[in-house]
Amino acid sequence: MQVPFLNLRAQHDPLRQEISAAIQEVIDTSAFAGGSFVAAFEKDFAPYCGAKYAIGLGHGTEALWLALLALGVGAGDEVITVPSTFMATAEAITFCGAKPVFVDIEEQTFTLDSKQLERAITPRTKAIIPVHLFGQVADMDPILEVARRHKLPVIEDACQAHGAEYNGKRAGSLGVAGCFSFYPGKNLGAMGEAGALVTDDSRLKDQVAMLRDHGQRKKYHHAVVGWNARMDGIQGAVLKIKLKHLEKGNDLRRRHAALYGQLLADEKALRLPLEASGRKHVYHIYAVRVQRRDAIIEAMAARGIHCGIHYPIPVHLQEAYQSLGLGKGSFPVAERCAEEFLSLPMFPELSVEQIETVARELRDVIRTLGLA
Ligand SMILES: Cc1ncc(COP(=O)(O)O)c(C=O)c1O
Repeated sequence: MQVPFLNLRAQHDPLRQEISAAIQEVIDTSAFAGGSFVAAFEKDFAPYCGAKYAIGLGHGTEALWLALLALGVGAGDEVITVPSTFMATAEAITFCGAKPVFVDIEEQTFTLDSKQLERAITPRTKAIIPVHLFGQVADMDPILEVARRHKLPVIEDACQAHGAEYNGKRAGSLGVAGCFSFYPGKNLGAMGEAGALVTDDSRLKDQVAMLRDHGQRKKYHHAVVGWNARMDGIQGAVLKIKLKHLEKGNDLRRRHAALYGQLLADEKALRLPLEASGRKHVYHIYAVRVQRRDAIIEAMAARGIHCGIHYPIPVHLQEAYQSLGLGKGSFPVAERCAEEFLSLPMFPELSVEQIETVARELRDVIRTLGLA
């Protein structure tokens, strides 16, 4: 049996007619760049996240970047984040002219280790960006407590955590702003590139809305130098439809994660992901930790099972960030995780049979490689 890592076709087939009709409507009204379809999605997405406002943007990277710009982060500043993330989190910081400063992650949740946060703060620190990696919200209470004491804004990188919760509050509603990606493979994915920022702060909302539209407050009146970061009308229309199915998709992901957990619980060679207490994990990625990960991924692929790695190199060891001078050993947990992470197939439309096949083959590969 073939098990793909992701199957977007299976997600879109049942929605094809509804989405096609919505795209036709965008074509009929020519609302292609920003406009009414984006506004309609924003109106639904903000309350879904438990936030007052949502601003549709070109992608998640832009959401992070504009959040930082709107908060006044610039040259010479430092912004704290984690090395276990997609490159975009750090890129957004660099694109403001600021320097990314990393804090290692927790061994169990793979999110920012709040115990190490305070010592990374300097007089240059201007913001903190915890990353809700794989769909689990970082331990926000202690992070927010440190941030409050140092009067620093917390921007959530919720690009992998649509609908995830922390003590009953949704990802994106805990910090001053939440940044989302709707890259097609995300739990809420567009049919192209898209992103959003959510916030309760009306001034921040106005600032980001202005920045995404060339710094215009009024057409052709540019108050500041901004950018073109508008969401496409077609993506707004698609996302409004797909948002209605997000909860169902997240529930299925949670059910699949529980089944993987059950089937792999006694496999000593594996460390399974953990849902921390008070949190609702939405399993954008179901990552186990295992030795000889690269050999396993190859053997699984040979058996028709396609796994992933998120991410093989922590950001501080990327060639692009060599100038930071952070060598191996700087962030041992993130580095160990990068060597051991193995992402198993995870998407709502997976069948029980497919999950059983993945678990059975993985156990067998572990045995064949002599890991158990
Ligand atoms: C943690 C994280 N941050 C930021 C981004 C950037 O989002 P986008 O690809 O929409 O620019 C992503 C998307 O892959 C992500 O996973």
